[in-house]
Amino acid sequence: MEYSRQVRELLAARYDHPPMAYVHSFGCQQNQSDGEKIAGMLAQMGYGFTDAPEQADLVIYNTCAVRENAEDRVFGNVGALKSAKKRRAGMLIGLCGCMMQQQAVADKIKKSYPYVDLVFGTHALHTLPELLYRRLLGENRQFSTENARGEIIEGVPLRRSGSIKANLPVMYGCDNFCTYCIVPYVRGRERSRNPGDVLNEARALVGQGYRELLLLGQNVNSYGKGLSEPINFAALLRRVNEIEDDFWIRFMTSHPKDCTHELIDTIAACNKVCRHIHLPVQSGSDRILAAMNRHYTVAHYLELIDYARARIPGVTFSSDIIVGFPGETRADFEQTLELIKRVRFNALYTFIYSPRPGTKAAGMEDPTPAADKSLWLRELLDAESDIRSGMQADAVGTTLRVLAEGEGRSGDGWLTGRTQGNDIVEFTAPRAMIGSFVDVTIERAQNWALFGRLKEG
Ligand code: 5AD
Ligand code: SF4
Repeated sequence: MEYSRQVRELLAARYDHPPMAYVHSFGCQQNQSDGEKIAGMLAQMGYGFTDAPEQADLVIYNTCAVRENAEDRVFGNVGALKSAKKRRAGMLIGLCGCMMQQQAVADKIKKSYPYVDLVFGTHALHTLPELLYRRLLGENRQFSTENARGEIIEGVPLRRSGSIKANLPVMYGCDNFCTYCIVPYVRGRERSRNPGDVLNEARALVGQGYRELLLLGQNVNSYGKGLSEPINFAALLRRVNEIEDDFWIRFMTSHPKDCTHELIDTIAACNKVCRHIHLPVQSGSDRILAAMNRHYTVAHYLELIDYARARIPGVTFSSDIIVGFPGETRADFEQTLELIKRVRFNALYTFIYSPRPGTKAAGMEDPTPAADKSLWLRELLDAESDIRSGMQADAVGTTLRVLAEGEGRSGDGWLTGRTQGNDIVEFTAPRAMIGSFVDVTIERAQNWALFGRLKEG
């Protein structure tokens, strides 16, 4: 708070108009949520915001380390800022987030990107005002990338990116160590927010008119471990569900190994929790799941799906799949294809395996040629697209509850929104309905959306 005030005073003395910040977050929802904290701190320090990095006085890239291509994009963007910084006196550049929590990346920035002013990892997010203060005063480039024990810092100001849907982090970090994944290394050990803090924030959001809360954690099913008050994620969901008002609750991400029947029963019992579960399976081969250190089998996963389908009428599922994990054969991949045909996910997030330095899988033999992996991915996408088209065709003629989120892409008079299953729906309705729940009768489907009109009567 103290540093924040001091930065504010420095900026007020230095600029005769509010200085402009550009903040961009790559990667997952958790990182987007961190980006809202960064913007919140900047707003408190007196920054305004711009969408054009080259016109900003402070550019911050909040980075993702989950796959190599996310990292490459960051280096590309930072490289492009070099000449912008020369043109704009006093421009500062900051890099933060998951990539920066890796020492090798921070060292590379130190050595090869001398025009980057601030580098801070996920553990140092809240120290932004101090780092900025020091740099603005003319101290050396600031690097803060130590691995902290990762206590939770409450009370960081937020500048939310929307007014209808809100991110609500409930836990941070991950203890699972899936062999492909960098997250436990860059986001540290699991730690949960106190239920009181989560509930206060949830109540405040609903009071401000938010209509959808997305409860976030790398592994939400681990919520509550280590808290003095005994509570688990199912119990937290019930408490959020008790808040009075009309709103939806979503959550991500669930790990199949700790997705319990209790959690599924809770979703069934809670009227505000969307009938949709994002449950990343990663692979349909038990051999590969074991090599990934996932601690479940395909049979266990399917049992969960069947149980949820029996308990929650109309439930849909989405998933993440990694194609081409080290040692994956054509036979393993075909089991993944079989699994997705069996489950019929309404959305699939598919990735070609990307070795992450320091993870166990990065040291495994990986003989499958990249070209084969690309073909497999194509095949997976085609299969998924057929499944999706089938599910969308089934929706035509039905009436679905939709949260109207904004103007549609289909032109004047169209709004866009999402169903509980997170399917996009475009429909004709007055703008005043943005932010409300509406019932839409689906008339046709195209691959990216369902189209319809407000239900009559
Ligand atoms: N390579 C490819 N995909 C990965 N994911 C995580 N790590 C890797 C990696 N090294 C995917 C997983 C995870 C999603 C967020 O990203 O599918 O669920
Ligand atoms: Fe990327 Fe993972 Fe960090 Fe999210 S937690 S930003 S997916 S590396």
